[in-house]
Amino acid sequence: MSQNGSPAPGRRAAVIDGLRTPFVKAGTDFRDLSAVDLGALVVNELVARSRISPGEVDSVVFGQVIPSSTVTLIGREMVLRTQLPRNVQAHTVARACATSIQATSDAADQIQLGHSDCAVVGGAESLSDAPIFASRRLAQSLVELSRARSMGERLKLVSRLRPRDFAPVPPALKEPTTGLTMGESAEKMAQVNGIPRAAQDAFALQSHHRAAAAWEAGRFADEVMHVPVPPRFERVSARDNVVRKDTSVEALSQLRPVFDRRYGTITAGNSSPLTDGASALLVMSEEKARALGLTPLGYVRSYAYAALDPRDQLLQGPAYAAPVALDRARLTLADMDLVDMHEAFAAQVLSNLKAFASKAFAEKELGRAQPMGEIDPEKLNVNGGSIAIGHPFAATGGRMILQTLRELGRRQRQYALLTVCAAGALGAAMVLERE
Ligand SMILES: CC(C)(COP(=O)(O)OP(=O)(O)OC[C@H]1O[C@@H](n2cnc3c(N)ncnc32)[C@H](O)[C@@H]1OP(=O)(O)O)[C@@H](O)C(=O)NCCC(=O)NCCS
Repeated sequence: MSQNGSPAPGRRAAVIDGLRTPFVKAGTDFRDLSAVDLGALVVNELVARSRISPGEVDSVVFGQVIPSSTVTLIGREMVLRTQLPRNVQAHTVARACATSIQATSDAADQIQLGHSDCAVVGGAESLSDAPIFASRRLAQSLVELSRARSMGERLKLVSRLRPRDFAPVPPALKEPTTGLTMGESAEKMAQVNGIPRAAQDAFALQSHHRAAAAWEAGRFADEVMHVPVPPRFERVSARDNVVRKDTSVEALSQLRPVFDRRYGTITAGNSSPLTDGASALLVMSEEKARALGLTPLGYVRSYAYAALDPRDQLLQGPAYAAPVALDRARLTLADMDLVDMHEAFAAQVLSNLKAFASKAFAEKELGRAQPMGEIDPEKLNVNGGSIAIGHPFAATGGRMILQTLRELGRRQRQYALLTVCAAGALGAAMVLERE
């Protein structure tokens, strides 16, 4: 690093290209694929499309939030199951919904340090293939059974089991500290910040309409690969299948609250859905990109992670991380040409927007005299977000970086801010630049 915090000349991390699978509702087109399958598909296709020799890649950083029961190191699998040479080192990252932001910032750091010149980063998630666990009693009995020496001992162990011990235990999207699900936590935020149902539905509607318009205008065509659908491979998944062009205020307003059925405001329509999908980016040092004659989509200018107490507002992390990332970029919110805020729930986005604009929040929570400011709605999530496009947890950050850099290019603009809220009350923010 130089004295002003900029990377050494030529060591800026350039995003050369990226790709994602369609994002599809869990249990639909990708129900027979695992996260590793989806990740390998996208990494292979990205490397092939980039036309660089696979031997140029020196590292892979890849993530998955809900672990597969049979794969412990998805990063390395992205090498072993693709055309990348087997001597490419790899590691796995996890930062809940900010996992592929983490993969990208890890690669950017390694590039700045001079430890890497060319990395493939990304994330994959299959909620269709979420591990189903055995109950603790069943698991313990099975271990003891394997050690039992006589038939009598075995029968004794089996006779201890009750029918309820055989019930499968699905993974919970619950915050361990509070016991609340993500949806219940978002419900709490809607109440604390006074976010009415109508505002949430209006935001969700906009997300769907913008994503549908982006598909229709062909803006996603070059960033989404086609995936033949197993087991028969007679169909191809070519588009996100959650986006609803025809949704309306009336349809959204009729949906029943899911997480607080009596008094709640959060519905299937104003939440991100459970989704399968993968994304990957090719990240290089500026120097190497130049040497290979490649024109980057843009660069990572800065990033920051932050956290608050999960018992407070679980999904408010962006409002804490963004000011730090902007300071590190030596820029302000007013300099941003685009802002992309991950949409876990409309209530979470609207709560964060309130905090961005609030002087009281800036003074009390951030110790700053001035708030970050209001985000121009015409610059925010201009091609839709996770509510409409879907949210395969570990793949979302990669999608956001790719989608935003390509949009900056179309608009011939310079700067963008990305934010992601994540489990554990974490927040991530990244500033991207084009030139
Ligand atoms: C909210 C949630 C429980 C809904 O799951 P679900 O019930 O499977 O949702 P569905 O897609 O079946 O939608 C339920 C109904 O709403 C309707 N619906 C959903 N979105 C709609 C929209 N935009 N417009 C109109 N109708 C819509 C569906 O058509 C469906 O109607 P039907 O019952 O008549 O078929 C689930 O998506 C969830 O848990 N999301 C949160 C995920 C999470 O916690 N993420 C972490 C964020 S960090």
